[in-house]
Parts: sequence; structure tokens; C-alpha cells
Amino acid sequence: MAVLPVIKIGHPTLRKKADEIDKFDSELNQLASDMIETMQVYNGIGLAGNQVNVLKRIFVIDFGLIDENLSPKSYINPRILSLSGSALREEGCLSIPDVNADVERAARIEVEYQTLDGELVQEELEELAARVFQHELDHLNGVLFIDHLSSLQKKMLEPQLKKLMEANSLV
Ligand code: CO
Repeated sequence: MAVLPVIKIGHPTLRKKADEIDKFDSELNQLASDMIETMQVYNGIGLAGNQVNVLKRIFVIDFGLIDENLSPKSYINPRILSLSGSALREEGCLSIPDVNADVERAARIEVEYQTLDGELVQEELEELAARVFQHELDHLNGVLFIDHLSSLQKKMLEPQLKKLMEANSLV
């Protein structure tokens, strides 16, 4: 296992669309376990491929932070089948350090994804799990949570975001 570097806003990979995964091999298993370790070291509740500079459609969610009896889980080629309701809650992102804002998202979602073995699974998620899934799926499409904010919210965060963008687009 290894802790991977997490890229920050300003890095072009965060704005790219990740590619479908078609090889369910030991390399994918290694990537998933490295991503889980990375997420846990940085105290994130989720982490997407783009954030470790890998443009593949994979993200991990630490369900242990939602319910201590649950383990982290890997989602391959995830997609949303249906959305319902709406909820507002504060979000942050390991790629946008020290920035938090309320984001409105669907409260319940039906999803489909593949496991590390390539098995196709359908699942219903709600509350925090539904929110994290939507946030991480956005990453795979080059979308960040700040894209969902109102113009007033964006205006208030602008100085902070500008600083981060400038610092990170140079590396
Ligand atoms: Co994020």
C-alpha cells in the first residue's frame, strides 16, 4: 500500500473526464487499496481517481465514517440511474483545502457500478452516502463542488479560490 499525492484545484487533471475501466486486474486492486489508504491518511470521506492524477472511473468512499461497522468501498464505472428529493449540507474536498460551502444535491439516488471483480451492482443510497457518491462522480466528470454554488457563495469564496488556483497551477 502507498499514500498517493492528492492534486489540488488549478491542476488540469481535476477538470478532465476520466475513462471507463475495462481491466479488472491486480493493478486496479492496487490502485483501489492505495486510494483507500490515501483517503484515510488525509481524513477524507471519499476520493476519486482524478484527485490522485489517474484518469480512470474509480472512486472510494469511507463508509466507516458514516457507520463504524462498515468498511471503505470501491466504485468502478459508477453511474446514477435516478435521483429524488433534495438536501443541503456543507461539503469540502481534499483537492480544495480549507474551503467549505453548503451544496444542494439529491437526497436519494439509485446507482449502478462495478466491483473490483467487475461484477455489476445496483444500490440505493441516501443522506450522506448519496451526497458523497454524487460529489465523487462529479470528480470523474471534471466537476468540482464549487461549480454547484450560487453566485453569491462563489463571490465570497473567490479570493480564497484564486489564491489556491495560482499556487497550484504552477506545479
Ligand atoms: Co472532492
